[in-house]
Amino acid sequence: MTRMNRQWRLARRPMGEIQDGDLELATVPVPALEEGQVLVRNVYLSLDPTNRIWMSDMDQYMPPVQIGEVMRGGTVGVVEESRDPNVPVGARVVPWLGGWQDYAIVPGSVCNQIPPGFPMSAILSSMGLTGVTGYFGLLDIGQPKAGETLVVSAAAGAVGSIVGQIGKIKGCRVVGIAGSDEKCRWIVNDLGFDAAINYRTEDVGAALDRLCPHGIDINFENVGGEIMDAVMARMSNFGRMALCGMISQYNASGPVSGPKNFTAILMRRLTVRGFIVSDYMDRWGEAVAQIGLWVSEGKIKYKVHIEQGLEHAPQTVKRLFTGDHDGKLLVEVSPPPPGG
Ligand SMILES: NC(=O)c1ccc[n+]([C@@H]2O[C@H](COP(=O)([O-])OP(=O)(O)OC[C@H]3O[C@@H](n4cnc5c(N)ncnc54)[C@H](OP(=O)(O)O)[C@@H]3O)[C@@H](O)[C@H]2O)c1
Repeated sequence: MTRMNRQWRLARRPMGEIQDGDLELATVPVPALEEGQVLVRNVYLSLDPTNRIWMSDMDQYMPPVQIGEVMRGGTVGVVEESRDPNVPVGARVVPWLGGWQDYAIVPGSVCNQIPPGFPMSAILSSMGLTGVTGYFGLLDIGQPKAGETLVVSAAAGAVGSIVGQIGKIKGCRVVGIAGSDEKCRWIVNDLGFDAAINYRTEDVGAALDRLCPHGIDINFENVGGEIMDAVMARMSNFGRMALCGMISQYNASGPVSGPKNFTAILMRRLTVRGFIVSDYMDRWGEAVAQIGLWVSEGKIKYKVHIEQGLEHAPQTVKRLFTGDHDGKLLVEVSPPPPGG
């Protein structure tokens, strides 16, 4: 019987927030494999703020997804057919960008096999892209030292929650900014942040003045816009800003204004550096090994929020922009194998 593949394809570029009809669901037969290829049944699809960037025809770090193309997305899955002798049927693999679809056909040579004992969901969260992002963004760019003050935005999110915990391991005073009292309680009570600010109910600038009376040495920035403005105005001399993301601006349909306090970079001699996690591809294993150790020692905790059904992916991705998710956001495309 012919195997069928459901694929979400980009039908038009969203204007502002993602709308019904921006993506369309196609169902196509799975073609026969060529020599060296493997067929991966996607188990989990990672939903990431950058999905919205990839949908836009804007200056970005990868080519935008083209109209009619399968939506790009990180996945983990199980090999169902193989024409690569190094990748057996049944192997749990990371085909890297397996896309918003049931099945991905990829060269076996790009498939990393997941070692036994690692839950597949962890490979897309703490021990995958989000954990590695937090690890290098903070340690390489933030250069934290014991006793310094670190402020993290989107602090209860997948990346931010890891960053704050690494900051604590390194001896920093860590203040997180998040969008609900429940998230603020989680990062302080369960993750060990020193303090949290609910940006929806508090004046962020006033709260930072109160919580960071000696200024901010390191900013791990996930949000941009007004939150970043408030932080930037309070940076200490020779402070470091690791620009990881600017999610408050990804749905903008026109030009966005720059930071209000740009002169602070000069006056306070700040280092402001953007980065993309793929810049650290050659050191990926170092981060995964260290984070894995911290997780096993109970020094790093993380949450994964799994929604069921590829068919709901376009609705589910919007949760990243409303904050309506509890941890790293994944879609379960098909059932995981026994043991996860
Ligand atoms: N540079 C890289 O290589 C790299 C890699 C991965 C991720 N990132 C970036 O890291 C950031 C976090 O990504 P993630 O995957 O960890 O997602 P996440 O933090 O788990 O989810 C996004 C969170 O952003 C917050 N948010 C959304 N819109 C906001 C707004 N207008 N103002 C303030 N907060 C807003 C929401 O939390 P609240 O409920 O707290 O509002 C939401 O839960 C994103 O900017 C992403 O683009 C960068």
